[in-house]
Amino acid sequence: MEYRIRTWPDKILKEPTKEVDFFDDRLKEYIDKMWEFMYKEEGVGLAANQIGIPYQILVIDTTIREKKSEEETENPVKMVLINPKIVEKEGQVMSTEGCLSFPGVQITIPRYKRVKVVGKNEKGEDVVIESSEFLSIVLQHEIDHLNGIPFINYLSPLKRKLVLDKYLKSLKEAEYQTG
Ligand code: CO
Repeated sequence: MEYRIRTWPDKILKEPTKEVDFFDDRLKEYIDKMWEFMYKEEGVGLAANQIGIPYQILVIDTTIREKKSEEETENPVKMVLINPKIVEKEGQVMSTEGCLSFPGVQITIPRYKRVKVVGKNEKGEDVVIESSEFLSIVLQHEIDHLNGIPFINYLSPLKRKLVLDKYLKSLKEAEYQTG
């Protein structure tokens, strides 16, 4: 398989990914590739389908991000999550986000303040994550990717059209620049 960052409107970003039932060398290869791309692109999280792998795998590393405010109390984490599901959610915050699959796009959308996620680690062991603050936002963004939901879906139809038109125009211009 050739791995590369998939950008919107690539159809792999629109389809729900499949559950992982193999905890072996193949999974390890997928995870290694995901870390490689995530760090290369300077993301704090990456969903497998963002590099063309159609499975429910996430990598997250919030240790590489500087705290945005003094109020943040959450400890930074580095983790792999397999088959993650949000099982509890609470509160609401407005979140300003970018996405490696939408280069140049930054939007502010509503997110839950706290989420509880269940899933497995790379060894296939059950894990439960209680999150608030930044990790909670990253988990929601990345789990949405695995479900085929891009972050622009949270914009109103009018706002979404404006953002998408501008984004698609910038892609065209980039094409001309590279010949
Ligand atoms: Co994203």
